Amino acid sequence: MLSYLYPLRTYLIVAGDINRPNPMTADWVVPLSINPPLLGVSIGKTRYTRKLIEEQKDFVVAVPTMDLLKDVWIAGTVSGSKENKAEKMSVTFIPSEKVKAPSIKECAANLECKVVNEVETGDHIFFVGEIVNVTYGDAFKEGKPNIKNYKFIMHASFGPEFTYPSDEIVRP
Ligand SMILES: Cc1cc2nc3c(=O)[nH]c(=O)nc-3n(C[C@H](O)[C@H](O)[C@H](O)COP(=O)(O)O)c2cc1C
Repeated sequence: MLSYLYPLRTYLIVAGDINRPNPMTADWVVPLSINPPLLGVSIGKTRYTRKLIEEQKDFVVAVPTMDLLKDVWIAGTVSGSKENKAEKMSVTFIPSEKVKAPSIKECAANLECKVVNEVETGDHIFFVGEIVNVTYGDAFKEGKPNIKNYKFIMHASFGPEFTYPSDEIVRP
């Protein structure tokens, strides 16, 4: 039934530490509050990422662009409980500034979050994170996303189909 909400933007949730980062692809990421800055991410109970976030109480939301789609697919189809997927991916993990979970150098932005709440929502756990630091690259240099030069990933459906937002700006 949730497929009627698609297309949705796609992100990478990085858990673990710099010695053993575990990136997981996630569509179910939502802004929650401006002050304090809060976001939520819904993570399946069976995910290895759930275990890591519950132990360490932090994570990073990394914003990938279409040029990272192959890595996004690996992070979303391989489980860290079975394989070290960071080694299969071509991205570079770098230390974050305020949390143990690493950031991804090639991502357009990295939002460092500390867990402030967790709610059981059916077969998922909804983690509420306070954004304690953000780093970003050229895609956000003008203080807003540059949608002309950077294609932010959208998941077109539940399957292996992706798209990206139009670069047309339409004002009401
Ligand atoms: C595009 C895409 C979006 C996904 N979104 C979510 C999500 O929002 N929440 C979730 O729990 N799993 C989501 N998944 C599935 C996980 O990324 C996948 O099960 C992953 O292998 C879990 O890795 P882990 O076991 O290392 O945590 C998504 C997968 C893909 C390909």
